[in-house]
Amino acid sequence: MNFAIIGASGNVGRKTIEILEKSKISFKELYLVASKKSAGKKIKFREKEIEIENLENYDFSKAQITIFAAGSQIAKEWAPKAASKTIVIDNSSFFRMQKNIPLVVPEVNPEALNNHRNIIANPNCSTIQMVLALKPLHDEYKIKRVIVSTYQAVSGAGKEAMDELFDQAKNFLDKKKIVPKNFTKQIAFNLIPHIDLFDKDGYTKEELKMTNETKKILDNKIEVTATCVRVPVKSGHSESINIEFEKSYSLKNIIKILDNASGCKVIDDRKDGGYITPLEAENDYTTYISRIRNDNSNAKAINIWVVSDNLLKGAALNTVQIAECLMKKI
Ligand SMILES: NC(=O)c1ccc[n+]([C@@H]2O[C@H](COP(=O)([O-])OP(=O)(O)OC[C@H]3O[C@@H](n4cnc5c(N)ncnc54)[C@H](OP(=O)(O)O)[C@@H]3O)[C@@H](O)[C@H]2O)c1
Repeated sequence: MNFAIIGASGNVGRKTIEILEKSKISFKELYLVASKKSAGKKIKFREKEIEIENLENYDFSKAQITIFAAGSQIAKEWAPKAASKTIVIDNSSFFRMQKNIPLVVPEVNPEALNNHRNIIANPNCSTIQMVLALKPLHDEYKIKRVIVSTYQAVSGAGKEAMDELFDQAKNFLDKKKIVPKNFTKQIAFNLIPHIDLFDKDGYTKEELKMTNETKKILDNKIEVTATCVRVPVKSGHSESINIEFEKSYSLKNIIKILDNASGCKVIDDRKDGGYITPLEAENDYTTYISRIRNDNSNAKAINIWVVSDNLLKGAALNTVQIAECLMKKI
């Protein structure tokens, strides 16, 4: 069994390498691939230096599982060709809503991996951490409607965007001029209520991804409305989620369910500092749930705060977990 990562030099690609390095997954070779800009550079992996290959010249038959972390355009062009030679797990949004493509969070809908056709989509980072919390609640109380607002870290927009936050923060403190490049406005000491393109109804594509992907993964009947906001946090997405159930619930039972939710941990002390912030979730595989409380305007609803490392469970970790599920079937 060999692995390959397309987009190995990027934020998600590098995290995927780190996870594979720490994991107990047994495989022989790891192939690292990126654009010609990175070809020839070396990345250390398990005592070896692996040279990054240029995608244009890469032979997809070298690995049985290939993780794509290079964006939608690369996935669109290369994943269908690759899929005749390898199983593709793609981080981009390109295949997510296509009918015969499984969209998988292993703790939530592993059965979707049955009968895949060699392309599997990894959901949006904000969707993944939300459905981890929603799944066991939906099993118990049937969720009717979700209202979510996100506070998304700059690392979710790629490595150049992450560097832009650092540069802008430095320039701001040095009283130098700030010219936004990857963001539409200044992100340092600010926030931007806009991620991805606008559609005709005024929602952004990021917001629609949360709605549509949650329905595909969990249940088409759940109504979801989202507001996605970019915040000047390096890594770790946070979400304020209002969840309305079909029936009445017990808050004690909700806390118990969330604490037992696969991949999640409740930290909710109802006192100063008794909750999780994105900085504390960085480099952690766990999705944290805090601020669990009754919605005091609706007897069938609750409010929760969910935080997870967007580069880990939101991307790299989820793809590696999908790969592990597939390896059990191969
Ligand atoms: N960041 C997140 O939180 C997150 C979460 C979920 C999903 N995703 C998705 O994961 C994907 C990667 O995101 P990222 O944040 O890692 O982006 P990134 O840091 O900008 O990295 C992009 C990667 O793609 C490679 N690439 C770009 N153009 C290429 C080309 N023409 N041929 C071959 N390789 C090329 C880059 O290689 P070079 O360095 O050689 O240019 C780099 O390795 C995106 O689809 C993103 O939407 C990201």
